Amino acid sequence: MKIVVLIGSPNKNGSTNLIAREFEKGAIEAGHQVVMLDVAHANVGVCGGCVACGYNGPCVKKDDMENIKKEILSADMLVFATPLYYYGMSAQLKTVVDRFCSFNSSLQIKHLKSALLAVAWNSDDWTFEALVSHYKTLVRYLNLSDQGMILGRGCGTLGMTSRSVYMNKAYELGKSLR
Ligand SMILES: Cc1cc2nc3c(=O)[nH]c(=O)nc-3n(C[C@H](O)[C@H](O)[C@H](O)COP(=O)(O)O)c2cc1C
Repeated sequence: MKIVVLIGSPNKNGSTNLIAREFEKGAIEAGHQVVMLDVAHANVGVCGGCVACGYNGPCVKKDDMENIKKEILSADMLVFATPLYYYGMSAQLKTVVDRFCSFNSSLQIKHLKSALLAVAWNSDDWTFEALVSHYKTLVRYLNLSDQGMILGRGCGTLGMTSRSVYMNKAYELGKSLR
């Protein structure tokens, strides 16, 4: 299947990218096509809330979201990859999610598979509570089918992350996809 990974970290060589690349490795080994989209450095403006799109029409903003939309609507699976920022997804990733507005209905009827890849400095057991709740709500609303979550607690630096169990967990999640 075709898997689109939305990478929402501004650090190209940071922990989010590290985990996402392990996931990609596993998924490619399992025979999937993986498209890694660095949405943090894409030219994507915030949703202006004008609703000229009517929730499923052309967006008035002409930017990199046109290509991101094309990739998502031709995919079988959508992966959200993000560092934890104040207990939610990064603003860079949320900006892209808000722009789903102009193809909301098209997305809902696709019934895409999905996954969440996230890293955080904290290692408390409640670290990902708010993010997981948001992700599960998106899964429900967008008719996604969750295939798994990698929640990298104690992954505050590249060193911490590369030594963590989450590297292998991300690889195994990619490899397990059918
Ligand atoms: C703006 C900002 C907010 C952050 N908020 C949190 C947080 O709420 N909880 C947490 O555990 N770590 C937080 N962190 C730490 C990052 O999630 C962590 O360092 C992560 O590994 C960064 O991933 P990256 O290497 O892909 O940038 C924050 C970091 C930044 C820069």
